[in-house]
Formats: sequence, C-alpha cells, structure tokens
Amino acid sequence: MLIVANWKAYVEDSAKAGKIFSASKRLAKTGAGTIVLAPPAPLLGALAARNKSPVAFAAQDVSATTGGAKTGEITAQTYAAAGATYAIIGHSERRATGDTDAIIAEKLSHALAHGLTPILCIGEKERDGGGRYLAFVREELTRAIEPLTPKERGKIIIAYEPIWAIGKTAENAIGPNDLAEMVLYIRKVIAELLPGRSSLHSLVLYGGSVEVANVRMLAASSGVDGFLIGRASVDPNIFPSLVKQLR
Ligand code: PGA
Repeated sequence: MLIVANWKAYVEDSAKAGKIFSASKRLAKTGAGTIVLAPPAPLLGALAARNKSPVAFAAQDVSATTGGAKTGEITAQTYAAAGATYAIIGHSERRATGDTDAIIAEKLSHALAHGLTPILCIGEKERDGGGRYLAFVREELTRAIEPLTPKERGKIIIAYEPIWAIGKTAENAIGPNDLAEMVLYIRKVIAELLPGRSSLHSLVLYGGSVEVANVRMLAASSGVDGFLIGRASVDPNIFPSLVKQLR
C-alpha cells in the first residue's frame, strides 16, 4: 500500500514535523507499506536533508513555471533538489485557488521532467443520482493527462478525492462499494488513455476523510492501491494507528 500524508498547512513548526517524521520512520521499518510525507516546503527541505530512511517526500504542489523572475514560486526542480520524489498535483484546494486543467497539465509535465512522480488528484464536487459524476471524473482525468505522451501518462498515480468527502469524518467518507466502482471506472478510463498498455500498473489511491475507523474497510474490497490522508496524518499518535490497520 502507498500511504501519502498530506500535511496541508496543519503542520507549521519543526518540532511537530519531527515527531510525525520519527513516527513514520518507525512505521516504515515495520514494513507497513510505502510512506510518503507531504510537508509544507521549508519543512520538507529540512526533513528530507537528513533522511536516510525509506520514508519518501512529496511536494504538495509544484509551480507551473520553470524558474526565473517568479517571486514566491517553488518549481519542480527545486523540490527534486530538496529531496522530494513525488508531487501532489491538482488537489481540489489548489484548484479552488485557480489551477485550471491547462495549468495542471503544465505542472504534471514539469514534475515528470524533474523525476517527480505526480499524484494527480481528481474528484467530483457532488454525487447525483444520474451518474453524471462518472462523466465528470472521466473528463477531469482526460483533460489533465491527454497533453502528455503515452509513456508519461503511464507514470502518473491517480488520487480519487471526491470533494464532498474531504475534511469531514469517517461517516461522511465514501463507502467501500462506491469506492470499488470508482476505482474500476478510473482504471478503465486510464486503459483508454494508454493505448496498447496495461492499466494494471497505474496506482489508484483514495483520499477524503480516511480515518482509523474506516481505512481497513476501504482497503479490504475496493481495489485501491493506497490512500492520500490529510487531517488524520498530522497527529503523531493517530497516524501510526491508521497505518497499522493496513497490515
Ligand atoms: P482529509 O484530506 O483526509 O483531511 O479529508 C484529504 C486530502 O484533502 O488530501
């Protein structure tokens, strides 16, 4: 299982960052899957610089630019140099501040150019009875990865994060049957976008109110390859118990 901890702006100091990092290193030693931490940029730089463990690091976003006179931007190249090997791209909280499909496609290609594995977030705002959310997810995924070459498309990890389930509690998260349906559907869409290639190797993660209370049930029968976890990943006591549910 791939477990991506999206710290968002929940972690703001190195003492707390250090505690979660230490807990993650202990977890990684127990063979609890691949653990990827996505701290805010300066904390990522500090932790990754002294990392000798199997814990990996992800940028929470990368710039759509490639450097130069761009105050405040952090490029994919900078993240790679700082020790990140993954990049979350297209998170709904970034889309809400202006990331369009075109910007997301740019970011994906910059991440790939610098050896970062993109974790592309997609997901509908709400569920309707008529199944329009399926068409929405298909279009969002297609628009993001269509500009890439087939080889590049095959390197992308998809994180299905329905917006209605983000930042709530386990009772509001998706159920295992609905998740299984969506994972299958996403695999089908990816297979169409990777002509002649198998989609079996494209990892599909789920994110949105994953907690100790629901993670085992969601993993059991849905076919997901892992989870993107926000709030429950920033408590150094809760995160290890959550990950241990997956053993
Ligand atoms: P959450 O966030 O686990 O706090 O719902 C998930 C995410 O937004 O990546």
